[in-house]
Amino acid sequence: MRIADIQSHIDHELLTKNQIQDLIRKTAAQISRDYAGRDLLMLAVLKGAVNTLAALSQEVSIPAQLEFMSLSSYGSGTTSSGSITVRQDLDCDVRGRHILIVEDIIDSGRTLRWLVDEMKSRGAASVEVFALLDKVCRHEVQVDVKYPGFVIPDEFVVGFGLDYDERYRNLDSIAVLKPCEYQDEDQGEQS
Ligand code: IMP
Ligand code: MG
Repeated sequence: MRIADIQSHIDHELLTKNQIQDLIRKTAAQISRDYAGRDLLMLAVLKGAVNTLAALSQEVSIPAQLEFMSLSSYGSGTTSSGSITVRQDLDCDVRGRHILIVEDIIDSGRTLRWLVDEMKSRGAASVEVFALLDKVCRHEVQVDVKYPGFVIPDEFVVGFGLDYDERYRNLDSIAVLKPCEYQDEDQGEQS
């Protein structure tokens, strides 16, 4: 789905498909150099990071294992809380593995902080992070991001895997919806 298909729902486009692809291509080249000769495991959190993992992994020029985990953090419809629960765990042993966590977005940083700590405590040899988007001004905990993406303002965004109420994940760019689209905001959970 392209921005033109849902123009009436969109306030503005924040990042175009080309901007996203450029950044992903450059990041993939760097990752391919950094992990050359190492056994790379790329780990994405469902569902938001799926598009980013698919795009990034296809640009990487070394063989990589792709793994997924489903986490949930409960909070209001457009914010996440700190309490993380595992809905679906990894199905492999990460001891001694070089893990690259691929994230869609960092908001408070709590999801990522939890995941980095969890992978280290399971015995990973290394844990690094690529996050496509980063709301730097909203961080509540510190996270080290080796491969930074785009720093974005404190606005709720959709597209390229990111949803509002499970919709808009299939948009091929990143956009901000019109304020009226967010009106029915409830207590909910995020992934
Ligand atoms: P954190 O734990 O506060 O960093 O929350 C990160 C998670 O919240 C992301 O993986 C998303 O699922 C969700 N999230 C945060 N900001 C947005 C947004 O602007 N749009 C869609 N989802 C978001
Ligand atoms: Mg996510």
